[in-house]
Amino acid sequence: MTTQTGQTLPTVPPILVLGATGNVGGEIARQLLQAGVSFQVGVRQPGRVSFPDSVDVQRFDAADSSSYTVLSGIERLFLLWPPGTDMQRDVQPVIEAAAARGVQQVVFLSILGAEKIRVVPHRRAEQLLEASGMDWVFLRASYFMQNLSGVHRDDVRLRNEIFLPAGNGKTSFVDVRDVAAVAVHALLHGTRNVAYDLTGPQALDYDDVASIFSVTLGRRIRYTRPSALTFVRVSRQRGTSLSFALFMLAEYTAARLGLAGRVTQDIPELLGRPAIRLRRFAEDFRDAWL
Ligand SMILES: NC(=O)c1ccc[n+]([C@@H]2O[C@H](COP(=O)([O-])OP(=O)(O)OC[C@H]3O[C@@H](n4cnc5c(N)ncnc54)[C@H](OP(=O)(O)O)[C@@H]3O)[C@@H](O)[C@H]2O)c1
Repeated sequence: MTTQTGQTLPTVPPILVLGATGNVGGEIARQLLQAGVSFQVGVRQPGRVSFPDSVDVQRFDAADSSSYTVLSGIERLFLLWPPGTDMQRDVQPVIEAAAARGVQQVVFLSILGAEKIRVVPHRRAEQLLEASGMDWVFLRASYFMQNLSGVHRDDVRLRNEIFLPAGNGKTSFVDVRDVAAVAVHALLHGTRNVAYDLTGPQALDYDDVASIFSVTLGRRIRYTRPSALTFVRVSRQRGTSLSFALFMLAEYTAARLGLAGRVTQDIPELLGRPAIRLRRFAEDFRDAWL
């Protein structure tokens, strides 16, 4: 394929990336572009995104089955469960449509431990994919480092604190760039029927995180260790919806109970280099908290 700028891109089976305006999908798109690969993105509002000319931007809304036509002709699909959507209503039909329209491989963004926590929507999607007849790859990712530059950014930036109810529990933070690199590897190699457990290289508690941020930002960042009740109350005062505050509470309670600290070797084994450390993440995204 030749782009408008005359650049020739390597030929790979047609790839569609969903969630390309989000953390992981956005990074997958960046890395596919860097690899010079031709691909499509499916976004809800094509008029509001800007991708380079070589990216084929299509309208796709999981809640609107008329947009599923974009799946025709696609061989490899990156799929996620968008937070706040309903698995049965919004993701199951996408999986069924993908299988019916001849998609051959789905790389699905899941969560670490999904195979054990059967109540999470991610496990339901995994089961649907396992039974779909399509090849599947599950990216069972630990807690994203990018939550600290996303949902918790202003706590650090404006209040010099890390404010979440994880007690002394450790978390094996993973950088979204590593999750995306594994997704890109799977999409380009056509990997079949593998579940990867994706964590960072170390399990850290939030005092460790506060120390790393203090050194990187050159000012004191404190981990304030709020109780569950205080976390929900203050989050509400700061404009977070009750459902999202409770969702975060559940997530950080798992960390507090020691369930979020497992470190795996899947990233270094697959990519042939160490997983990104939190210190490097903090340095790379330093401007986010200034
Ligand atoms: N945060 C963590 O620590 C963590 C760890 C492991 C796994 N996960 C899982 O990762 C997933 C979220 O991934 P992310 O952080 O990359 O996403 P994100 O940044 O939250 O972005 C969500 C994406 O989904 C798209 N989207 C929303 N509703 C849609 C719809 N109806 N149809 C099509 N696209 C829709 C959004 O596009 P628009 O531009 O159209 O809004 C956006 O691109 C969740 O399933 C979460 O459980 C998160």
